[in-house]
Amino acid sequence: MSETSATPAYPVGLRLDGRRVVLVGGGTVAQRRLPALLAAGARVTLVAPEATPSVEAMATAGEITWERRAWRDGDLADAWYALAATDDAAVNAAIVAEAEARRVWCVRADDADRGTAWTPATGRSDGITVAVLTSGEHGAAGRDPRRAAAIRDAVVARLGDGTLGAEQRGPRTPGVALVGGGPGDPDLITVRGRRLLAQADVVVADRLGPRDLLDELPPHVEVIDAAKIPYGRAMAQEAINAVLVEHAKAGRSVVRLKGGDPFVFGRGMEEAEQLAAEGVQVTVVPGISSAISVPGAAGIPVTHRGVAHEFTVVSGHVAPDDPRSLVDWTALARLRGTLVLLMAVENLGAIAAALRAHGRPDDTPVAIVQEGTMATERRVDATLATAADRAAAQDIRPPAVVVIGDVVAVGPTAP
Ligand SMILES: C[S@@+](CC[C@H](N)C(=O)[O-])C[C@H]1O[C@@H](n2cnc3c(N)ncnc32)[C@H](O)[C@@H]1O
Repeated sequence: MSETSATPAYPVGLRLDGRRVVLVGGGTVAQRRLPALLAAGARVTLVAPEATPSVEAMATAGEITWERRAWRDGDLADAWYALAATDDAAVNAAIVAEAEARRVWCVRADDADRGTAWTPATGRSDGITVAVLTSGEHGAAGRDPRRAAAIRDAVVARLGDGTLGAEQRGPRTPGVALVGGGPGDPDLITVRGRRLLAQADVVVADRLGPRDLLDELPPHVEVIDAAKIPYGRAMAQEAINAVLVEHAKAGRSVVRLKGGDPFVFGRGMEEAEQLAAEGVQVTVVPGISSAISVPGAAGIPVTHRGVAHEFTVVSGHVAPDDPRSLVDWTALARLRGTLVLLMAVENLGAIAAALRAHGRPDDTPVAIVQEGTMATERRVDATLATAADRAAAQDIRPPAVVVIGDVVAVGPTAP
């Protein structure tokens, strides 16, 4: 057996479903390797006198069989694959020797060159497994797990954001993907959302959300602006639905890119229902809602131990005395926890007055975060009594999130 890493390994994908794999040693190596072995369907026997709590939990849950003792010769009988991961080099060497005698491929965690198999740096994206191995051939530095991990990360990241392989992809997601784009910072869209965006023929985008990502789209992608500017001119929802249906029925891959999460005051379900009624397949990609992320990015936790045990997200787009309001402001005023208001800039005075009138103290801390997570983010701090005047004085405009409650006063950036 070669004891150097100069000879390249022969790459292979082991199909371990239902096959016996023996893992010796219950430490962090086991903790790292077990999830992928289990995902591959392996029948894992762990041999170890002790295990980390999460490995022990897998045994308790019946995911693995744990023989709670030291390894002994013969443990690899009937195994297809083995991992020697104890903290004793002599024991690992003996396990590899047994594996060699039984012709079982065996990874040795403490000294990879002395094992008969190497664990590649592995990652997955969209049904593709990326496995990277390095070796010392052609004068390279030798087996280099850090380099392998870096290359794996780069490939997986580019597969994830669609910048690698999007054109070569087979069948794309048919119909319309309702993609939550997050609060605005382009880094805060999900990996899946970004990938679907990279595959799209047509993108129907709101004013809110990660507008910067639209710049990255190739020229052939049709971008339709569905801007629903607060208090301004709106493209009717029916018109948006019609555009989505038309493009999807023409066989194009359509992304409906929405700010935050599609189902948080985003009319996402209206669009999904309309599309389903037209026989168009809908894929929902959740997004990071501004309700939590905008306060969080501005240093405000919506809950905090000992301070707030609940948070309530409320739309402030209709005033409390408006007959169309569905919000019980009296009940909300009695809550001690955090109130997060969206679309509330215009009605902030009336909302604060209603909360105070029904018992929320005047000095309750309030923060207003405009254009959260973006370069233009601004935060204004006030109390329930002063919030509306301060917002007006500071020329706060939508989009803004209003946070009401003692959580505003916790954390290093609190006023
Ligand atoms: C029509 S709602 C859509 C909410 C969105 N679906 C979500 O989950 O974040 C629009 C409101 O979300 C809030 N909002 C969205 N993005 C924001 C941001 N980056 N900064 C502050 N507020 C934001 C504002 O209150 C805005 O008026």
